[in-house]
Amino acid sequence: MSTTPRNILVTSALPYANAPLHLGHMLEQAQTDIWVRFQRSRGHHCRYVCADDAHGTAIMLSAEAANRTPEEHIAAIQAQHERDSAGFLIQFDQYHSTHSPENQRWSETIFARLEAGGHIAVRDITQAFDPEKGLFLADRFIKGTCPKCKAPDQYGDNCEACGATYSPADLINPVSALSGAEPVDKDSSHLFFQLGHFEALLTEWINSGQLQPPIANKLKEWLEAGLQDWDISRDAPYFGFEIPGYPEKYFYVWLDAPIGYMASHEVLCREQGDDFDAYWLPGGDTELYHFIGKDIVNFHGLFWPAMLDAAGLRQPTAVYAHGFLTVNGVKMSKSRGTFILADTYLEHLDPEYLRYYFAAKLSGGVDDIDLNLDDFVQRVNSDLIGKVVNIASRCAGFLRKKFDNQMSDTCAEPELVQSFIDAGDEIAALYEAREFNRAMREIIALADRANQYIDDKKPWVMAKDESLEAEVQEVCSVGVNLFRALATYLKPVLPAMAEKSETFLQCSLDWTALDAPLVEHELAPFEPLLQRVDADVVTAMVEASKSGA
Ligand code: 2FM
Ligand code: ZN
Repeated sequence: MSTTPRNILVTSALPYANAPLHLGHMLEQAQTDIWVRFQRSRGHHCRYVCADDAHGTAIMLSAEAANRTPEEHIAAIQAQHERDSAGFLIQFDQYHSTHSPENQRWSETIFARLEAGGHIAVRDITQAFDPEKGLFLADRFIKGTCPKCKAPDQYGDNCEACGATYSPADLINPVSALSGAEPVDKDSSHLFFQLGHFEALLTEWINSGQLQPPIANKLKEWLEAGLQDWDISRDAPYFGFEIPGYPEKYFYVWLDAPIGYMASHEVLCREQGDDFDAYWLPGGDTELYHFIGKDIVNFHGLFWPAMLDAAGLRQPTAVYAHGFLTVNGVKMSKSRGTFILADTYLEHLDPEYLRYYFAAKLSGGVDDIDLNLDDFVQRVNSDLIGKVVNIASRCAGFLRKKFDNQMSDTCAEPELVQSFIDAGDEIAALYEAREFNRAMREIIALADRANQYIDDKKPWVMAKDESLEAEVQEVCSVGVNLFRALATYLKPVLPAMAEKSETFLQCSLDWTALDAPLVEHELAPFEPLLQRVDADVVTAMVEASKSGA
């Protein structure tokens, strides 16, 4: 393994502060958290920061609907988000908010640099305006009759009945979805970031080999179609940061959202003494990774690198996109009970089941990930309970009853144990490449070999013959050593089970600590590591999701 510790900063996308987290969010946070925990287990300095994405019209309106000020609203939702993420054992080093002084200062600083660099244009545009609410209306806030199939009550950009796409101006009898008033056209001046100035930088970035091929292709298409100026301002009333020098104009939520990564990291650095500049100024050897969903690739693959460059900051080392989560093969749906909130899941099931299932499904690509609930029950029970935990529980029983939890003085199968230790390099390479599904397959194949070894030796038969007592201890000690390697490799995915295993094994489970077999070693009494998933509980969770509970 590499001996030089790397300095790595990792982010996952900032959840909007207007709705609870669902399993789609947890897919991304679990993917990121597993990767981060893996890096730490390899001895690297790896920090994971995130925040709530607190600005924008949608959040302003959702606060109004909840009868709260936006500040009260985002604070309440952030507390809920942090609780749910912690419930899924997501180990952020810092969780912040884009509505923070750090983010305001960085947004203003970066904007000032964009402006000083001549990358901001100001021009008038005409938009739909709700005269009753006194608000400009984004397309999704306008409804009307589809110009093509005449279906009523369709949104401003596409028709759910016939699939037509159009502009809100084409809708028949358009109304504001907020007040029901007929929108009027209104002019106002907007600020634009001139993305076209960064064509050379973006071409280089897209060809850098650091992006997943489908993502690089998508970005290339956008580049070839011509980079349009990006509208980065919104008119008051808006919940966000007012743009210095432009009264009544606010930074568009997507301008200050990725800057939230920096704000969150800055707070962490202040608290922990890490060197913020080493991660954000160009030319250093620190690494920066953004884990995101494939729907927000334009922001992270085009606008963000251009903004960073314009502001004299470093480029991301890579942006890692994942696919969408489907449940039982289709988009999550409230009526089917498959729109499952993080908190509904946690009321019913152990977070480690889902962390494992996601790991068993996630690759380094952008394909959608399906949570098939029958397969979920079957796979967790078969792989984790039936194979991995089984090794420890079988061997621990004999060692406790007959040998006072004492492992043998020598390792009876040094080659077998060594082959499990050696497998760590291949498994690490798979984790590094986010090929978690292949890593899990390797680990479970090792578990099969360990169980096969125990089945061949049959310690339960030997235990009946007093003359074979030493052998029982040796076989079970080998089994425990094999389990130790598996628990080490699964630790990024199953941190709570790993903690219990560390207590049982009386040693820490890290890649860096896995070198030689444990011999002459005393174990702690074995406690159950993980319970079986109960299919009825999964059904109850689906029912609870239907009722919105
Ligand atoms: O799509 C979303 O949910 C956004 N809130 C993600 C923001 S990620 C980053 F840029 F802040
Ligand atoms: Zn239609």
